[in-house]
Amino acid sequence: MISPKKYARAAKILPKGFKTPNEFFNYIYHEKDMIWMGQNTNHLHETTDIMDAMIGCIKNRDYSKYPPPEGFPELKELIRKDLGLGSEFDVLVTAGGTESLYLSINDILDPKDNMMTCDPGYLIIDNFATRFGERVISVPIYNPDCNYKLTPQLVRKYMNERTKLVSLVDPLNPLGSCYTKEELKEFADIANENGLYLLHDITYRDFAREHHLMAKYAPENTITVFSFSKIFGMAGLRIGAIVGMCDVVDSVKSIVINDLGTNVVSQHGAMAALKSKSRWLNHITSTTRKNQKIIKKAVDEVEGAFIPVYPSDGNMMAIDMYETGIKPVDVAEYLLDKKIFVREGSYTSRLFGHRYLRVSFSIPQIQVETFANKFLEAMATLKSSKKI
Ligand SMILES: Cc1ncc(COP(=O)(O)O)c(C=O)c1O
Repeated sequence: MISPKKYARAAKILPKGFKTPNEFFNYIYHEKDMIWMGQNTNHLHETTDIMDAMIGCIKNRDYSKYPPPEGFPELKELIRKDLGLGSEFDVLVTAGGTESLYLSINDILDPKDNMMTCDPGYLIIDNFATRFGERVISVPIYNPDCNYKLTPQLVRKYMNERTKLVSLVDPLNPLGSCYTKEELKEFADIANENGLYLLHDITYRDFAREHHLMAKYAPENTITVFSFSKIFGMAGLRIGAIVGMCDVVDSVKSIVINDLGTNVVSQHGAMAALKSKSRWLNHITSTTRKNQKIIKKAVDEVEGAFIPVYPSDGNMMAIDMYETGIKPVDVAEYLLDKKIFVREGSYTSRLFGHRYLRVSFSIPQIQVETFANKFLEAMATLKSSKKI
C-alpha cells in the first residue's frame, strides 16, 4: 500500500455532484456552451496560421518521427527573438510552463534550501518547491500597501540565508499585478548580493500594458518560464519553454524527464504562433482590455465588492466579495449551473481564498456581457436567499 505524498497543495473545492477533479474537468471540457472564465485560457484567436501549421504537420505524418530533444532550433530562435534576448541565452522547449517550473525548481533547489513565493499566487509552484527544497516561504501579499505583489522590500524582509529561489509570477495569477523596471532592478540587486535565483514566470506577459524581462537585469540569476497556453491560445497543446543563460539551461538539461522531446504538432503550432503574433496580438489585448471594463462596471454595482488590482495586466482578475457576506464558492457554483466556469479564490490562495472569485476574460465580449448579467443575478439571489 502506498499513500499520496503530502506536498503543499491548493484547497480545491469540487462543485456539487462531482466525485473527482478529473470528472469535473471532463464535464467542463465537453460542455459545448460553457463560458470559459475559470482557467485563464484564451478563446479569442480568429486567424488560422497556428491551426494550418499543425494540420500541415499532421498531413505529412511528421508525427511519426521524434523531434530534436531540446526543441526545433527554429522554435528556440523564435522564442529568443520574441523576448529580444541574444545567443548567450539558451532555450529548452518543454510540455508547458508547468514542466518548466518543475524542472527549474528541481534543478535549482537543494534539499536544505527554501523558495519564496506569494499568497495569493500560482500554488503548484509551492507544491514543487516542497518536493525539492526544505520549505516554502509563502509571503502574504493581498494588501494595497504592497500593491498586491511580492515587492523587493518583502523579499528582503522574509528571506534568510537558505533562500535560493524567489518566484516572480509577472503578471501575477490571480490578481494581474505586474512589476516595474525599477522593481526588477531591485530584485537583480538582491539576487546578486545573495547569490539567489529568480524564477520569472512570464506566462501572462503579452496581456500587460507594459512588461519587462528580469533576464535583462539579472541575466545570470534568472530563469524565465515561457508558456504557449495563454496569449497564444494553445493550452491544450501543452507547450512552453525554459529560457536562461547557457550554463543554467545546460544544468536543467541534465535532469529532464522528456528526453525524447516535446510534441511535434505543438511545436509546429508554436512556430506559426510566434511568426504570426503581430497579426493577432492587438485584437486580443484590445478585447481583453474592453472586457475588463464590462466586469468592473458590474462589480461596481455590488455594494461591498471590489477588484483589488484594476486594470489587471493579465487576462484574469480577482473580485473581492468578502464584505458582501456572500461566499465566492457559492457564486462559482451558481454560475456553473448557468454554464459559466469561474474559480473561487481557494484555488490560488490558502490565506485569502475565502475573499475572492477569480475570473478570466480572454473570451468574446458577448460572453463577458453574459457573465456580468449572471454575476449580478448571482449576487442578488444569494444575498436574498441568505437574508444578508
Ligand atoms: C503563472 C502560471 N504559470 C504557468 C502556468 C501553466 O502553464 P502551462 O499551461 O504552459 O503549463 C499557469 C497556468 O495557468 C500559470 O497561471
